[in-house]
Amino acid sequence: MYKFLAFLLFALVTITDGIICVSNLVPDQIRLAFAGDNGVSVGWHTYACPFSSKNPNPNPTVIYGLSPKALYSTSINANSSAYDTRNILKTSWFYSVELPNLYPSTVYYYQILSSSYVSTSAILSFISAPAVGDQSRTVNIATYADMGVDGLVEDIITGKHLFERALGALQKILSSVDFFLHHGDICYADDLVSGVFKTYEEAFDYCQTMMTNITSSRFYMTTVGNHEINCTNAPILNDLCSSDHKNQIPYSNRFHMPSKQSGGYLNSWYSFNYGFVHVISLSCESDFPNAPSGNLIDTITQVNWLKNDLTAVNRVVTPWVIVQCHRPWKGSIPLDDIIEGGFINCPSCQAAFEKILVEYNVDIYLTGHVHWYERICLNGTINTTNYVNPNGPVYLTNGVIGNPEAPNQVLASLRCWILLMPYLLSTGIRTWPY
Ligand SMILES: *[C@@H]1O[C@H](CO)[C@@H](O)[C@H](O)[C@H]1NC(C)=O
Ligand SMILES: *[C@@H]1O[C@H](CO)[C@@H](O)[C@H](O)[C@H]1NC(C)=O
Ligand SMILES: *[C@@H]1O[C@H](CO)[C@@H](O)[C@H](O)[C@H]1NC(C)=O
Ligand SMILES: *[C@@H]1O[C@H](CO)[C@@H](O)[C@H](O)[C@H]1NC(C)=O
Ligand SMILES: *[C@@H]1O[C@H](CO)[C@@H](O)[C@H](O)[C@H]1NC(C)=O
Repeated sequence: MYKFLAFLLFALVTITDGIICVSNLVPDQIRLAFAGDNGVSVGWHTYACPFSSKNPNPNPTVIYGLSPKALYSTSINANSSAYDTRNILKTSWFYSVELPNLYPSTVYYYQILSSSYVSTSAILSFISAPAVGDQSRTVNIATYADMGVDGLVEDIITGKHLFERALGALQKILSSVDFFLHHGDICYADDLVSGVFKTYEEAFDYCQTMMTNITSSRFYMTTVGNHEINCTNAPILNDLCSSDHKNQIPYSNRFHMPSKQSGGYLNSWYSFNYGFVHVISLSCESDFPNAPSGNLIDTITQVNWLKNDLTAVNRVVTPWVIVQCHRPWKGSIPLDDIIEGGFINCPSCQAAFEKILVEYNVDIYLTGHVHWYERICLNGTINTTNYVNPNGPVYLTNGVIGNPEAPNQVLASLRCWILLMPYLLSTGIRTWPY
C-alpha cells in the first residue's frame, strides 16, 4: 500500500514536472577551466523545472573528441550541486565534469549530453594547453578584475552598459587570447545597484549567461574578490542574501578551479601551468592574519601552501611565475589613505605575501579591487618600462574594465608608476604598452 502510494506520488511529481517543463531546459553558463596539466573541467548551469528543486540532470556528462563527428570520449568526475537561490520557480543546478588525458595544443570538440527535460548543448570547442615547458610560442593572457553587471542608476551615472561593452571588447580580441585571469569581483551580483534591479541570483545568472561565448571556448580562471565572499557589500541587500550566499557558497558552486590538482582549497587558492608559465591564484580575502573578510580555514594553511607551491616550481621549465589576487598593496594612493577593509590598499595582504613573492622572484602580481589601471615598477626602486626578465614582482592593478561602481579617481603620484586612466571608449578597447 505504502509502496503503491509512493509510486503514485512519484508518478504525479514526474508528470507535474513534465507538464510544467513543456519547453526544454537548456544547459547554459558553460565554463572551461584547467584541471591539472592534461585535463580540462567543463562546468555549466541548468534551471530545474518550475516548483521543483529536483536535479534535472542527475548524471551530468560531456562527450568529446578530435572532430565534431567523433565525440567518442566521455567525461569523468561528474558533480552536481545546488544552493538556496530563494526562487521556487527557478532552482539553479550547477554541474562540473572533467576531460582527462588530453593531447597538448590540440583542438577538442565537446558537447553536454541531454537528460530528461534538458537538451544537449551545441558542439563547442577549445584548444588544449601546450605541454608544460613548451616555449615554442607566445602565450596571450587576458587579465582584469572587477567586471560585472550594471544597474539602471549606474547606466545614468557612468554611461550605458559598461558590462556589455566590456564583453563586446573581449569578444573582439577573443581569437588571440589563450586564457583569462579574472582577479575577483566577477559579476557584481553582490552590489547595491545590480540588486535594485536584479536580485543576487539574477545578476549572477545574467552575467554568466552573457559570458558563455567567452567562457565556453577559453579557459576562465578566477580568484575570489570581496563581492564573492559574504554578500555584505550592500547592507540593504542583506535580507535578500540567504545563509547560502555567505562563505563563498555561490562562488564555490559556480566555478571549478584546479585546487584538487594543485593541493589548494576550493576556488580560493590553487595553481596551474600553461606552457612556460606557472600561474598561482590566491585569496586576498581570507586565510591569513587579519584577512579583510575573515577565514575559511585558518591563517596559516594558505600561506604555507603558497611557499610549497613556489618551492616546487622549476624555473627552467616554467621561467614565468604569475600571481593573481584581488587586492593590491602598492599604488599611487597616499600612504595615509590606506584602508584595510575598504577599497584601497591591503596592508595585511602585503604582510602575508610580499616577502614570499620577492623571495621566490615572482614576475607579476596581478590585482584589481581599485577601479583603475596602474603598473608599479618592480619593487618601487627600479624604474623601467622594459620588463625583460624582471628581477622581482611587477605590480599591476587592473580593475577598470567595467562595473556598476564605475572607475575610481587617481589621487597622487608618489613613486615610480605608470598609470593610465582608461574610461572605456565607445569601442570598448584600450591597450597599454607593457
Ligand atoms: C554569442 O555568439 C553567438 C554566435 O556567434 C551570437 O549570436 C550571440 O549574440 C553571442 N552572444 C553574446 C552575448 O555575445
Ligand atoms: C563570512 O561570514 C562568516 C560569519 O557570518 C564568518 O564566519 C566568515 O569568516 C566570513 N568570511 C568568510 C571568508 O567566509
Ligand atoms: C561538488 O561541488 C560542490 C560545490 O562546489 C562541493 O561542495 C562538493 O564537495 C562537490 N562534491 C564532490 C564529490 O566533489
Ligand atoms: C628592489 O629590488 C632591487 C633589485 O632586485 C634590490 O636590490 C632592492 O633591495 C629591492 N628593494 C626592496 C625595498 O625590496
Ligand atoms: C619613471 O619613468 C616614467 C616613464 O619614463 C617617468 O615618467 C617617471 O617620472 C619615472 N619616475 C621616477 C621616480 O623616476
